[in-house]
Parts: sequence; C-alpha cells; structure tokens
Amino acid sequence: MTQAVESLAARRHVLDLDDFSRSEIEAVLDNAAAMKEVLQRDIRKVPALRGKSIVTLFLEASTRTRVSFEQAGKILSADVINVTGGGSSTEKGESLYNTALTLQAMNADVIVIRHPHSGAPHYLARHLAPSIINAGDGCHAHPTQALLDLYTIREKLGRIDGVTVAIVGDILYSRVARSNLWGLTKMGANVVLCAPPTLLPPDFIDGARMDETHPFASVRIETKVELALEGADVVLALRIQKERQKAGHLPSLREYSRMYGITSSRLEEASPGALVMHPGPMNEGVEIDPEVAHGARSVIEDQVTNGVAVRMALLYGLPSPARAGR
Ligand code: NCD
Repeated sequence: MTQAVESLAARRHVLDLDDFSRSEIEAVLDNAAAMKEVLQRDIRKVPALRGKSIVTLFLEASTRTRVSFEQAGKILSADVINVTGGGSSTEKGESLYNTALTLQAMNADVIVIRHPHSGAPHYLARHLAPSIINAGDGCHAHPTQALLDLYTIREKLGRIDGVTVAIVGDILYSRVARSNLWGLTKMGANVVLCAPPTLLPPDFIDGARMDETHPFASVRIETKVELALEGADVVLALRIQKERQKAGHLPSLREYSRMYGITSSRLEEASPGALVMHPGPMNEGVEIDPEVAHGARSVIEDQVTNGVAVRMALLYGLPSPARAGR
C-alpha cells in the first residue's frame, strides 16, 4: 500500500484518465481495496485527512457522486464543504473563476467540481492552487466514475485485462463512456460500443480508427445490441441523457427501449455470469429492464459502495498543497 500511495503522489489533479498510466490506475485500485476495508469496520472513521478541507462544487445535478465524495472526505476526517448552484452566488451571476477563487481564499485543499461545460475543471486546474478533481464536465469526462467501474470489474471478475466490456447506450453524450474508454483500454480490456448510429460519435471513432496506434483503434462498434452482447463479460448500460439530447437522435424512447434495452433475454447472449453495470441514475424500462437492474447479475449497488472507496483512495493519495510545494 505504501508503494501504491507513492505512485499517486506525483499527481496534482484528476481531470480524466487519458493521462493516467496503467500502474497509476492499479495504484488507485489497490488503495481503494484498502479503503474498502475501512468501510466495512464498525467505526468508519480514520484521521488521515484531519485538518484538510475539501470543497465539492456541484453546478449540475448529482446524487451518487456528490454524496460519495462527501462521505469519502468525512470518513478520512477532512472538513467537507458542499457548494451547489442553487443558493450560492453563481445564481447572482458570479463567474466560475471568481467562485473558485473564493474557495481557494478559504484554503480549500481540494476542489471537486461538476460542471455542465466540458473543460471547466481543466480551466480551474490551470489557474488555481488546490487539487482539482473532475466529478463530471459536460459530455467530456468522468474519471472517478470510470475508476469505480474498473474497481468493480476487478473485484468481481478478478482481472480487467482480457475482459470484454460492452457499453450500450447514449455514447455520444456520455462522459462515463469516454473516461471508461481510456481506463478500460489502458487496463487491457476489449471494448465494444453499442448505440444507434445517431448516438455514436463519428469523428471520435473514425479519427481513432484512422490511426492504428491510437489506444481506441481496437474498440469494436456495433449498432445491433444482440451482437454487442455476444460473449460480453460486462454489460455497462448508459442512461439516455434527455437533458443533453438535441431533437432528432431517437424516434422515441419506446423505440430505443425496444431496439436497445437490456432485457433478461438479451442478456443470454452475454457470457455466463456476466456483470450488469450502470452508473445511475437509471431510466428503468428504457435502457435497462427493472428485473435486470435488480437481478442476480446486477452489481449496480456495489458500484455505488465502491465509489466511496475509490474516492477515498484519490483524496488520500493526492499530495496536499504543502507537499506539492505550492
Ligand atoms: C453519470 C453522470 O452524471 O455523468 N452519473 C453518475 O455520475 N453516477 C451518468 C449519467 O448522468 O447518466
């Protein structure tokens, strides 16, 4: 564990997984396993981050991610301050930069940010002293979700290397899919993306395919869900993001559900014992059937618990501003 912590100490921010090495991802997963042991104790409290302050700045809706960062910080004894759009000065038109400057002036060691615009966490990381953790920026990245997904796969299947993961749903708008693509390919998984053609990002996929050395060059694309699920060890369903969709991508949700919904009978195409995952929140009956979401193969609730452990590992592993020489 000591060695694992050391290998995160060189990192100041967590913005996406594109700049994580395989060994760095492994270090986070190993640390998360140690943190999960803390979660299983009667008294879930360790003094590791006593005297540190973490601000969660969530300018877009969230349940799981925000609460799990808060819980992770509190279990490690940090002071956690939650700021949301409603009720803060962002409602009065204060810019993101000025809001973040205020938080910096209050000595935040870490700012965890969720923002509707892609790149907002990167902007703060360029201009501010605290460590910045991206908790989801627009359609761009959601690295901590991908790390908890990787953790869950490794925990349940014993490995990630060589595992086939089918990601089904709104790939075009999904920051979860994008960060998982980085994480899964770096860890040696075989990735299959499945969506109606209108919900696949053409430039991104074609661009990657033109260059055979690109990490995504081996990603398989399927527009028929039965083919995508064939032999999959993990089926990761994504929410249809109604709030990000422009009109015209789908004839109707009912049509999407009929063609792409993850049902028990479709799941028979997957490997025996395949895991069913979903980052939440789910549109049950649209991208996933309730009986699959709550069925024997579902590890959706484990993902939520593992999210706390993974976020503890990150908060603990990042160097404090003093250690980073700021
Ligand atoms: C995801 C998100 O917000 O990007 N949810 C999450 O963080 N658990 C996925 C989604 O909103 O569909």
